[in-house]
Amino acid sequence: MKPSVRTTVIAGNWKMNMTPSAARDAVRETAALTAGKSGCEVVLCVPFVDIPAAVEAARGTNVKIGAQNVHFEKKGAFTGEISADMLLESGAEYVIVGHSERRQYFGETDETVNRRAKAALDAGLKVILCLGEVLAQRQAGITEEIVSLQTKLDLAGIPAEQMKDLIIAYEPVWAIGTGLTATPEQAEEVCAIIRRVLAGLYSPAVAEATTIQYGGSMNDGNAAQLLAKENVDGGLIGGASLVPAKFAKIVDAAQ
Ligand code: PGA
Repeated sequence: MKPSVRTTVIAGNWKMNMTPSAARDAVRETAALTAGKSGCEVVLCVPFVDIPAAVEAARGTNVKIGAQNVHFEKKGAFTGEISADMLLESGAEYVIVGHSERRQYFGETDETVNRRAKAALDAGLKVILCLGEVLAQRQAGITEEIVSLQTKLDLAGIPAEQMKDLIIAYEPVWAIGTGLTATPEQAEEVCAIIRRVLAGLYSPAVAEATTIQYGGSMNDGNAAQLLAKENVDGGLIGGASLVPAKFAKIVDAAQ
C-alpha cells in the first residue's frame, strides 16, 4: 500500500511526435477515455508548438499539459530556447527536465538539469525530473551509486518547500524505447533508493510525500504490476502515450 500522502501521476512524453492538429485530437481522445479517473493525475508532455492546441483541448478535462524541456535563463540571447515564463503563459503546468535523450543527444549535464529544474520551480511550473543509469552502469553493479549521485546533484539547492512541485522519474536508460522494461522488483528497488536519498537530503516526511515514477517501456500490459509496487507512484510513458487507448489503460491501472 502506498501512503496516501503521495499523488500518483501518469504522464505521457510525446517526444518529437504529433503536429498541433494531431495533438488536439489526441488530447481530446485521451481526455474522453480518462474522464472521471480520479485515482491519479493525468499529464501529457507535448512539443512546444503543440502546447496552445493541447491546452485548449484539455480545458475542462482532467488532463494537464506539460512541456519537455525548459531553459534556465529567464530571457535573452539563447536562440532556439524556451523560458519557464513562456511555458506558463502558454498554459503548460508541468515540464520534464533531464530526460535521458536530452542528456545523451543534447549535452545535458547534472548541472544544467539542476539549473533548469530550479528555473522551472521558481517560475511556478511543476517539474518531472528524470534520472537513471545506463546499461553499462547497471552491469557494473553501480546503479545505486549513479542514481544517488544524480539525485543529489540534480536537486542541489532546491529547498524542501519546493519539493511538493517536483516529481522524480526513475528511467533506466536501457529500458527507454527498447521494449526492455525493468522488472517490478528492479523498479521498486531503485525508487526506494531514491526515496532514501530524499530522506537524507530533506527529511523522511519530504521523502514520503514525493511522487517517484518509473519510466521505460511502460505499457498497458506491464503497468499494473509496476504501479502495484510500494515506491512506484506513477509512470512516465513514451511510446504508449501516443496511442490514447493504450495510455488510458495505463491510467486505468493506476486507479
Ligand atoms: P518509452 O519512453 O515509454 O517509449 O520507453 C519513456 C520515456 O522516454 O520517458
